[in-house]
Amino acid sequence: MTPLLLATNNKHKVEEIRHFLSGLPYVVRSLADIPNGPVTVEDAPTLEGNALKKAREAFAESGMLSMADDTGLEVQALGMRPGVYSARYAGEGATYHDNCVKLLEELQGVPEEKRRAQFRTVIAIVGREFEGTVEGKVEGMILTALRGEQGFGYDPLFVPDGHSRSYAEMTIGEKNTLSHRARALEKAVTILSSL
Ligand code: IMP
Repeated sequence: MTPLLLATNNKHKVEEIRHFLSGLPYVVRSLADIPNGPVTVEDAPTLEGNALKKAREAFAESGMLSMADDTGLEVQALGMRPGVYSARYAGEGATYHDNCVKLLEELQGVPEEKRRAQFRTVIAIVGREFEGTVEGKVEGMILTALRGEQGFGYDPLFVPDGHSRSYAEMTIGEKNTLSHRARALEKAVTILSSL
């Protein structure tokens, strides 16, 4: 079994990714398992840049094959913002709710057909003999009011195309089968299977 380091401290992410990778010959570790692991400053201007930066630093520090992700909500009417700034859209230390409120405010008066958006996840994989990124995308629309209690982040405002419920009105299992992160993880699994 080859060790694979996930460059995150987020326990929920680790569990979701472990689930996707079960069946592959990797022992999944996270930064929580590495004493004095890297604390990457996520200051790249793109999702790709931040994902690569996190995976490169994790690999440099540990020598283990490393994987990192970065996700953003890209809203057409806002020129694809907040994108890479999704976590701090309403300012440093903003809560998920603050960010949702700000999004509703910025889109006030924007008609339904112009509320198109996409979630995009980029996953970077970096090792001694491999470096690359994959992306998973889900298109949909932004609601005019919060709907649903599940999930996190912008879930109560996003309805994926082909569905009538928001991400936050789906069970976690349901969201995880169709989400942007799941799509990126499927591609990451293909790469990891070939290494
Ligand atoms: P991260 O790169 O996974 O940390 O995501 C950055 C930000 O994007 C988070 O703080 C959330 O605001 C938002 N986000 C990421 N994934 C999701 C999701 O699946 N649903 C809703 N919001 C998300």
